Amino acid sequence: MLKLTPSVFEARRATLLDAMPDGSALLLPTNPERTRSNDTEYPFRPSSDFYYVTGYDEPEAWAVLKKNGTDKPYTLFVLPKDPEREVWTGIRHGPEGAVGTFGADQAFVTEEFDAKLGELLEDVTDLYFGFGRHPEVEPKVQEVLNRVRKGRKSGLGPATLRDSHDFLAEFRLRKTDDEVALMREGARLTHLAHVAAMEQVRPGMREYEIQALIEYTFRRNGAWGWAYQSIVAAGANACILHYVKNDVAFADGDLMLIDAGAEIDGYATDVTRTSPVSGTFTPPQRDLYNLVLASQIEAVDATVTGATIDGIHESVVKTLTQGMIDLGILTGSVDEAIETESFKKYYMHRTSHWLGMDVHDVGRYTLTSGDARPLGPGMVITIEPGLYIPPNDEDVPEQFRGLGIRIEDDVLVTEDGNENLTASIPKTIEDIEALRA
Ligand code: GLY
Ligand code: MN
Ligand code: MN
Repeated sequence: MLKLTPSVFEARRATLLDAMPDGSALLLPTNPERTRSNDTEYPFRPSSDFYYVTGYDEPEAWAVLKKNGTDKPYTLFVLPKDPEREVWTGIRHGPEGAVGTFGADQAFVTEEFDAKLGELLEDVTDLYFGFGRHPEVEPKVQEVLNRVRKGRKSGLGPATLRDSHDFLAEFRLRKTDDEVALMREGARLTHLAHVAAMEQVRPGMREYEIQALIEYTFRRNGAWGWAYQSIVAAGANACILHYVKNDVAFADGDLMLIDAGAEIDGYATDVTRTSPVSGTFTPPQRDLYNLVLASQIEAVDATVTGATIDGIHESVVKTLTQGMIDLGILTGSVDEAIETESFKKYYMHRTSHWLGMDVHDVGRYTLTSGDARPLGPGMVITIEPGLYIPPNDEDVPEQFRGLGIRIEDDVLVTEDGNENLTASIPKTIEDIEALRA
């Protein structure tokens, strides 16, 4: 089970403190536990910003990072040790572990948050917090700020409020070697899962059987689990972009679209493959598949320093549109189809998004000038063109109706090109059919 070491988080905090202005503080809550029904909860997952800075994996915790000459810049508020509760819900780190294992300079139990945060904020000039992003816990911060401002040291307290999420996004956007190692491990497990699914699917099986196989593969190999709900779509279900019902039986001749990725210590993998349930592609499936594949390979090759996500998308749109005209799916010229956006009927989503701790990761897509942001080393994006032909679309030659195809890889931009992290997962027709030969 691959995991970042405490020294990675320590180095991150040092980098963040370096970038913060003197007199500032960064305040981060983790996610709340969320009720699923009555007294059962959804599995807990720390908030990405909080986990990025702390590596702390328990709920009801807060981190404060302070830059004002203090010899204790890093404070954690955590759940207390509680032998009785721990019998039910497992060992807690407690303040002692927060200091000893997680490197906090001081730690308090969360119950003390209200009282202590005021003290911590009194002499802070700039406060970074995710205002508007934490409806469950923001009232606590407002209360404390209110008290600080009304207090005896009236007039003190932060005069400038900054968005912690936007601040952290710029750091999270560029992956370090440690992060890339986790993402490679995610790719490895996602490879195992997709290959097992392509090998084992048969007509008559239900989508959830393949979903179970995929998620079993993630978990049994040490992943936290899935990075987002797995999409396993038989035939025309692939035309529903976020199809997660996964309860239909595969028919002979169907394509199977799987969009699923493992999560490793908080880092997402995001991969789609489309393969034939019977083991071989039919001629119309081949034609459409090879078109999507050609656009995908072109786009992966174009994912280099200086390129833009918008530019890559525009090239994909051109290739897919020309291909659809050649196959009789669209009419007119490429320029017309792009001008009138008629291609959007069959390719309605974007080609790429940032990938990292969140599947749709943080980072601005445009510069303040309004221009598209150029890619640079350490950024990871997905390349995921697709074509989705509705089953009842009478404008399209019959043999293509009901086909949904997407091919998605995760690509790391490097100094001199890129590394396709998920390249080993079969995607040519030859390699996919060979899995069943
Ligand atoms: N799996 C979600 C996406 O591809 O964006
Ligand atoms: Mn995906
Ligand atoms: Mn994606």
